[in-house]
Amino acid sequence: MGVIFEPFKIKSVEPIPLTTREERLARIERAGFNPFQLPASAITFDLLTDSGTAAMSAEQWAAMLVADESYAGSRSFEKFEVAVRALTGLRHVIPTHQGRAAERILFSCAAKPGQRVPSNSHFDTTRANLEYLGVIADDLVIAEGRDPASRHPFKGNVDLDRLARYLDQHAGQVPFGMCTITNNSGGGQPVALENLQAQARLYRARGIPFFLDACRFAENAWFIREREPGQHGKSVEAIAQECFALADGCTMSGKKDALVNMGGLLALNDDTLAARCKQLLILTEGFPTYGGCAARDLEAFAVGLKEGVDERYLEYRAATTRYLAKGLNDVGIPTVQPPGGHAVFIDARAFLPHLPPEQLPGQSLVVELYVEGGVRACEIGSVMFGKKGADGRFEPAALELVRLAMPRRCYTQSHIDRVLEIAAEIARRKESLVGYEMVERPPFLPHFTARFRPLAATPAGALTSARSGAPAAGR
Ligand code: F0G
Repeated sequence: MGVIFEPFKIKSVEPIPLTTREERLARIERAGFNPFQLPASAITFDLLTDSGTAAMSAEQWAAMLVADESYAGSRSFEKFEVAVRALTGLRHVIPTHQGRAAERILFSCAAKPGQRVPSNSHFDTTRANLEYLGVIADDLVIAEGRDPASRHPFKGNVDLDRLARYLDQHAGQVPFGMCTITNNSGGGQPVALENLQAQARLYRARGIPFFLDACRFAENAWFIREREPGQHGKSVEAIAQECFALADGCTMSGKKDALVNMGGLLALNDDTLAARCKQLLILTEGFPTYGGCAARDLEAFAVGLKEGVDERYLEYRAATTRYLAKGLNDVGIPTVQPPGGHAVFIDARAFLPHLPPEQLPGQSLVVELYVEGGVRACEIGSVMFGKKGADGRFEPAALELVRLAMPRRCYTQSHIDRVLEIAAEIARRKESLVGYEMVERPPFLPHFTARFRPLAATPAGALTSARSGAPAAGR
C-alpha cells in the first residue's frame, strides 16, 4: 500500500504559536507546572484532548449557515433527528450541550442511590455523574485491558464471566448497564462486536436496559472492521448501526467522532423514560428540539455523523495514531499497545523508571514535553487518580500514563514529525527528568487546577539539567 495521506485539502488555516524555550520555562513555572493552566496562545502542538478540537468541513460550516434557529420545532432538529435515527435506530433523540449533560439527565432519571452501574471502564464524567447521585460505578474490563503491553485486539471488551456473576450477585440493584466505545479510560481501546452482542444478551436475559457511551462509535466500528474475523467485508457505517442496534439507548458527546466543537445527545427507545428525560432537559438544557445547542450546532452535528464514518478518513486517522506510536516506540518510549483510536498513551512508569509513582513520572514528562517543544499533553496517572490513604500514605494510580490525544483533521504529518523530534530529544536525556510533588491539591478533579513543584531544584533555566537522584522533598 502507498502512503496513507490526509483525504482532504486545507481551506482555512490558523497560525500556531511559536515560543522560545525561555518563554516556555517561565510560562510553565507561572502555571504551577500544570499545562491545564497554560493559555493556548503559548502552545504549539495541543494534544491535550481530541474533544471539541476537530477541524470542521466546508460542508459543516455551510450547513450552519442554513440553520433554522426557531425555538420550537426547528428544521435543523428534524435533520439532526433523521441523522441520529438512521445511525442508531433509536426512537427518541434528545440533544444536549455535550456528553456529560446527556449522562446527568439519563442517570438522574434512571438510577437511584445505592444502585450499581457496570461498564467496561466508566469515563471520568460518567463515573462522577453516577457517584454524585450516590450510584456505584463498576469497571469490568477484561484483564488484558489493564495491561499496557498486552496486544489483545479488543482491550475494551467486558469480562463476560465477571459481568454474568456481577448481574446475578447484584440482581435487582442494576438499573442499566453501560459500555464505552472506544474505551477512553483504558487507552482508547475498542470493544468487539461479538463482545457487545454477548453483553446485550446478558442484559436482555435479565430485563436490564443496555446503554452505549458512544462518543467514539466510528473509531470503534473501524477497529471491528479491521480486526474482528468476518467483519472486513462490511461498511463502517453498517457495523456502527449493528452496534447501536444492540443497545436500548446511548449517550454521546458529539465533540469526538461527530466532528463538532460543541454538542451531545441522549437517544433511547423507552417512551416513559424518554418523557422524564425530556422534562429534565427542559429544566436545565432547553426545549427538546434544541436541548443545549444552537440549531447551527445540530446542523454541523448531523453532517459530522456522516463524515465521521467515512472510511478514507478513518483509515488516515488510524494511520496517524499508529505513526505517532511507532515513532515514539522507535526512540525507546513505550506506549500502551496497540495504539488506541483517538490517542497514544505513553507508559511513563516504564519510560522513567528512576521516578517512583509518588514523584509523578507522568507529570514530569508532561512538563518536559511542553518545555522542550511546546507540546501539551495530559497526565493520566497518580495526579488524576492517586489518593491519600486513611493512614496519610500516598496510594498511586494503577498506571502512570501520558495521553497524546489527536484532534481530528487538525495536524498534518509534519506536525507529528516535529512532536516525534521533541520526544526523541527527551528520550536521549530521560535520566535528567526530575520528579514533582503536588503543592496545592483541590478536592475534586485535581489535575485541572493543582499546582506542582519540581523535586530537584531548578526553576527557570535549569529544569532539565537537574540530576535525578536528588533528595526528594516532602517524602
Ligand atoms: N464519555 C467519554 C468516553 C469521553 O471521552 C468523554 C469526554 C465524555 C463521555 C464526556 O463528554 O466532554 O462532551 O461532556 N472526553 C474528553 C476527553 C473530555 O478529553 O477524553 P463531554
